[in-house]
Amino acid sequence: MSPLPLHRRAPRRVLTLSAVLALTAAACGGSPATDGSSDGSSDATSVVTVYTGRHYGIEPVFDAFTAATGIDVRFTTGSDPELRERLLAEGSNTPADVVMTADAANIALAAEAGLLAPVVSDTLTGAIPEELRAADGTWFALSRRLRVIQYSTERVMDPPTTYAEVGDPRWSGRLCLRPSTHPYTQSLVAALIRNEGAQEAERIVASWVANDPVYINSDTDMLRAIANGDCDVTLANTYYLGRLRTLEDPAFPVAIAWPDQAGAGAHVNVSAVGVTAAAPNPDGARRLIEWLATDGQQEFSDANFEYPAAVGVAPAEVLVGFGEFVADDASVRELGRLNAAAVDLLATVGYE
Ligand code: FE2
Repeated sequence: MSPLPLHRRAPRRVLTLSAVLALTAAACGGSPATDGSSDGSSDATSVVTVYTGRHYGIEPVFDAFTAATGIDVRFTTGSDPELRERLLAEGSNTPADVVMTADAANIALAAEAGLLAPVVSDTLTGAIPEELRAADGTWFALSRRLRVIQYSTERVMDPPTTYAEVGDPRWSGRLCLRPSTHPYTQSLVAALIRNEGAQEAERIVASWVANDPVYINSDTDMLRAIANGDCDVTLANTYYLGRLRTLEDPAFPVAIAWPDQAGAGAHVNVSAVGVTAAAPNPDGARRLIEWLATDGQQEFSDANFEYPAAVGVAPAEVLVGFGEFVADDASVRELGRLNAAAVDLLATVGYE
């Protein structure tokens, strides 16, 4: 496992130079989080340490939490599987209080591995719909990431309307797809297995492969490939288009086709979060998660153009422009359980 950088949060209070050096040493050594408060105490309850597979826009959100509560946040980024391996290796010595993933299967796999402790919180069960959190309280979705059909507005007038239609021969040589090793691909296929049955899911994914897709391991690069004319149709998360439209080009020549609107609905993946089983600061961890699901929910979801998970929170303006849709929230809890079957299916049909 490659070493992962530990990002220190800017302390809220003025520190002496020696306190700063002590904190830096603690961060580099990976020892349990301690607070560098100016009164010289090392009260761990004023720091929460987060391992996060969700990278985009988290720092300002954590800053806002600190401003609201006085609790500092330290965070380490990595891929979801890397962070899970790290938690397993660290065991009861982990400095991590919270793990945040970019994929539903990966938070469920962390729970299954015994890495997460159940959280009892009326705030969380009130804010997050039942379908978007673990039955046992080990994890909670904080935002929804829709993985949908996206297509060239310049060359495609009649896009596919279902995941199955992406395998229609008319898209032969015109697809870009994310590789099978990526959790987004695995969770989409897991949802197909749940909704269509294993046999039909295999037929659908095999038909994508038969269209000889170009495999690109970046959703942004897949959308750019469409804009550049290298492919015409892809399966990608909506927030990548939201980001390109907002930060780069309001007329970026890619549009969304909401899939399976007469069936199970568009595939929903999530950013999700749980408190680690060995958390040095479980109370601070719970407070962070509760804040992200309530007061911080708008900022958290907007920071990455994701759809909010909490009831009653509106999506960002650019997402309103993507239109109304039917979402497959019902599959989210099943994606971890079906991950191994999805990985097997992808290998069976020769999906790279
Ligand atoms: Fe992503």
